[in-house]
Amino acid sequence: MKNVLLTGGMGYIGSHTAIELINNKFNVILVDNLSNSSRDVLEKIERITDIKPKFYELDIRDKEGLEKIFKDNKIDSVIHFAGLKAVGESVQDPLRYYDNNMISSITLLETMKKFAVKELVFSSSATVYGDQKSPLDESSQTGVGITNPYGQTKFMIEQIIKGQPIQIRELVKDIVMHSNWNLPIFPTDEGDAIASEFLLEDDEEEV
Ligand SMILES: NC(=O)c1ccc[n+]([C@@H]2O[C@H](COP(=O)([O-])OP(=O)(O)OC[C@H]3O[C@@H](n4cnc5c(N)ncnc54)[C@H](O)[C@@H]3O)[C@@H](O)[C@H]2O)c1
Repeated sequence: MKNVLLTGGMGYIGSHTAIELINNKFNVILVDNLSNSSRDVLEKIERITDIKPKFYELDIRDKEGLEKIFKDNKIDSVIHFAGLKAVGESVQDPLRYYDNNMISSITLLETMKKFAVKELVFSSSATVYGDQKSPLDESSQTGVGITNPYGQTKFMIEQIIKGQPIQIRELVKDIVMHSNWNLPIFPTDEGDAIASEFLLEDDEEEV
């Protein structure tokens, strides 16, 4: 069974991804500092899947802590969701965004390199396309006219990843996320209720 580490795995998209992966027979390991999520998510995942995934409460800027996770688990792949994500907030407090999003991604890449983990899915954002007019697709230019620090962090992380010897399975962009990441339809009524809760908890300024 493949071991997939989900950074930001307790968040809105991370937790739904965990459910989908568990339902498709992956072993998921979640790491999250709970800055924008809560511990209850773990029980909700268990209620839907009957499996309580391994969870580490950790800020992934903590290099030693992250290395211990890689040491204690044979990680095959990483899906990197951890990050701050509100455009307006990033304009008000850019340094917080650069610190959190950049340092966490660099620490993750260094750790993946150290443990020879080569598969990564990065959750990027449509903000990397700047103020260009739609329609946009994956071949559209990125990095020009980005209007906020949040988008800058996503663009810079993409550039850093491209320079790494990592097989990039996919750079998940908003354009894909909004069509594909609308909340999954859970097979049970309870699942739908949980999905609604997540929707309500998620802030409005999504990107
Ligand atoms: N929601 C969307 O529509 C959308 C669109 C485009 C891109 N994205 C990107 O997808 C990712 C997930 O988005 P989401 O909507 O699930 O957000 P979210 O805030 O619900 O999830 C992010 C999780 O990361 C955690 N986190 C933040 N910084 C961390 C750190 N340094 N160490 C450990 N954990 C940390 C938070 O506690 C949270 O649980 C983000 O990177 C976001 O930029 C989301």
